[in-house]
Amino acid sequence: MVQNKIQGNVDSIDRFCRQYLQLERELDYPSSTILKEADVQDLLYHKIFSNDALSYPPPKRYKLRVLKELLSRIEASIDDWDLYGISDDLMTAFSILLLSPLPSELTAVLQKSYVTYTLPSLDTSSTPSPQVTLLESRDLVSASGTTGLRTWEASLHLGQYLAANPYLIQGKHVLELGAGTGYISILCAKFLNPILAIASDGSDDVVANLPENFFLNGLQGSATVQAMELKWGHALVGTEDEHWNRGIPVDVVLAADVTYDEEIIPSLVGTLEELVGMFPHITILIAATERNQETFQAFVEVCQKKNFTVDEIDFTLPPRESQRGPFYNDQVPIRICKISK
Ligand SMILES: C[S@@+](CC[C@H](N)C(=O)[O-])C[C@H]1O[C@@H](n2cnc3c(N)ncnc32)[C@H](O)[C@@H]1O
Repeated sequence: MVQNKIQGNVDSIDRFCRQYLQLERELDYPSSTILKEADVQDLLYHKIFSNDALSYPPPKRYKLRVLKELLSRIEASIDDWDLYGISDDLMTAFSILLLSPLPSELTAVLQKSYVTYTLPSLDTSSTPSPQVTLLESRDLVSASGTTGLRTWEASLHLGQYLAANPYLIQGKHVLELGAGTGYISILCAKFLNPILAIASDGSDDVVANLPENFFLNGLQGSATVQAMELKWGHALVGTEDEHWNRGIPVDVVLAADVTYDEEIIPSLVGTLEELVGMFPHITILIAATERNQETFQAFVEVCQKKNFTVDEIDFTLPPRESQRGPFYNDQVPIRICKISK
C-alpha cells in the first residue's frame, strides 16, 4: 500500500531531489500526503541527505536550510502521531549539521559549490538519469566579476535543444564559444558522441576552471573534450601557424548567453566570420537570453551587416511546473538562432 503511494509519487520525489542537486532557491517539496510516510522519508534520506548519498553534495548551509524546511513540513503533515513520525535519520542529519561549524554567510557566498543538472530528456537507459555536475561560483562577487563561473539559463535551454536533436552533435567537431562552466561542451562530450567538443572562453580564470569540471564528469584525459582560450575578435590563426588548432576542423559552433553586451558583439561576429571563412559548411547555433530587446537586436543587426542570416528556431521548453530537470526560470525569454551565410 505504502509502496504504491511512493510509486505514484516517485516523480514528485525525484523532482524535489533534482531541484536540490541544482541548488534551486525555490524547491517543490513533495505533498504533505506522502511526506508523513516513513518510506518516503527514508527514500529522501538515502537519496540526498545521508552522508554517503552524494559524491558532490550541495553546500552545508544550503543542505541545512532545505532539511529544516523539509522537517517542518513533515511535522506539519502528521495528523496522527500514533501512526506516523519523523525519521530518526533525517533528525540526526539535521542535528549533526546544526552542531557542525558552518562557514559564515560571506565565506559561503565566496566558496564554489557543486551544482548537478539532471537531464531526464536524454534518451539513455542509464539509472539514475544522466547528470552534469559542475563546480560553480554562483555569486558574481565571488566570481571576481566574470560571468563565466556559473551556468546561465541560455546554456540549459541550448542543452535541451541539443538533447532533443542529438544528430546535430553526433560524429561532429564542436566548438563552443564563451563556454563558461563548460555545461554545453560537457553535455555534448558525455552524452551526444561528438568526435571532439572544444570548450573555449576568453577569460583565463574561466578556462582554468574547465579541467575540474571535466573531471567531475569523468572526462579527465578524454580525447573528446578540450579546453581552449579563445578571445573573440582576435585572429584565430597566428602569423606563425599554418592552420587553426593543428588543422582540426569545426562542424558546429555553439554559444549560449554571449550577446548580452553591445560592445563585444562586433568581436563575436568577427570570430564567427573568421570561422565561416575557414569552415564554410559549419552550423552555428546561438542561444540568447533576451534581457533587453535592444542588445539582441544589436546582435541581429551586426550579423546582417556581415551578410549573415539569423533564423530563430522554434523550440519551447515546458513551463516551470512540468519541468523535470534541468530547472530554469520560464519567465526569461530565450531564443535559439541559427546563423548562416
Ligand atoms: C554570460 S557568460 C555565459 C557562459 C556560458 N555560455 C553559459 O551560458 O553559462 C559569457 C561568457 O562569455 C565569455 N566572454 C565574454 N567576452 C568574451 C570575449 N571577448 N571572448 C571570449 N569569451 C568571452 C565570458 O568569459 C563568459 O564565460
